[in-house]
Amino acid sequence: MGIIACTADLFPEHIERLKAAGHEVRLSKRAGNESLAPILADADALICLLTDRIESEALSHAPRLEIVANVAVGYENIDLAAAEERGILVTNTPDVLTESTADHTFALLLAAARRIAEADVAVRNAEFPSWGLQQPLIGIDVHGKTLGIVGLGRIGAAVARRGHHGFGMSVLYYSRSPKPDLETELGAVQVPFEELLKQSDFVCVHVPLTSDTKHMFNAAAFAWMKPTAILVNVARGAIIDEAALVNALEERAIAGAGLDVFEQEPAVPPGLLELREHVVLAPHLGSATEETRRAMAGIAIGNVLAVLDGKPPLTPVP
Ligand code: NAP
Ligand code: GLV
Repeated sequence: MGIIACTADLFPEHIERLKAAGHEVRLSKRAGNESLAPILADADALICLLTDRIESEALSHAPRLEIVANVAVGYENIDLAAAEERGILVTNTPDVLTESTADHTFALLLAAARRIAEADVAVRNAEFPSWGLQQPLIGIDVHGKTLGIVGLGRIGAAVARRGHHGFGMSVLYYSRSPKPDLETELGAVQVPFEELLKQSDFVCVHVPLTSDTKHMFNAAAFAWMKPTAILVNVARGAIIDEAALVNALEERAIAGAGLDVFEQEPAVPPGLLELREHVVLAPHLGSATEETRRAMAGIAIGNVLAVLDGKPPLTPVP
């Protein structure tokens, strides 16, 4: 029976399931960048969060570790090469969060276009504008517009379906490989990155953060976008050069942004905080629903139980 180190705030039923299988669960609340080494010394498994950095140094203090189960679909917080070198399996939580994250993406897209955050503040501040054809808080239509998806994977496809079936949007996509099924289902058209930015009214980012995608949205990219376009990022903050984004919004090179993720979370650049028109900010809530967070924890512990039982993991990272 194994020792499971856990930085994730697991639900009671998940802890019970691990204990019922005969394992010892050691919950560990860590402050900031506190070293993981002490909790890994005799651990057979680690269940961790995307805010934990699982580096080579920490793994070198984990002689018994068999699996790192990340409670997230993204896994750029884990040094995969170091894990592989030590024969440690790495798992993530794909699929169960796809629809919730796509809902959240569309919520940010609609909120930025229709200025919902600004409207909420106005009503609460008793600044209810008088109804008029050219009144304050006029927004941008979403239905019938062109939706550009950068990274047409699980979440990108779920957002594209919402746009196409729900809002009659035309779908363009930029992705590593063609998606013929989605082209048939949604009439989606694969285009080069520059073309997508030039033609899209709404650009949604769904690529993982890798050395190829870091800062793919830079000053040049913003210059290609329409001045009426809105950028939505529910992937990872560092895919966007935040300084260039603040500049593009200030200079009105683009019209707005819906952002769930930031380069240095939890820090948000002051320049971004000052921008309000067509700008909506959320604190990394893509998968944050009661049902989805439980499902993510369920997949993570399923991976640990399988591996500690000598079976293959359910969802190894690709
Ligand atoms: P996924 O199914 O793997 O989709 C990623 C897509 O990006 C794939 O279609 C992939 O192309 C494409 N891609 C990868 N590298 C690319 C590149 N260099 N250029 C162009 N396209 C590239 O992943 P997912 O489940 O949709 O999740 C996507 C990301 O969302 C995660 O990695 C995570 O960072 C983020 N996320 C954030 C939240 C949140 O709370 N904000 C929640 C969930 C996920 P191919 O299919 O052609 O290989
Ligand atoms: C959340 O950001 C995830 O990658 O699951």
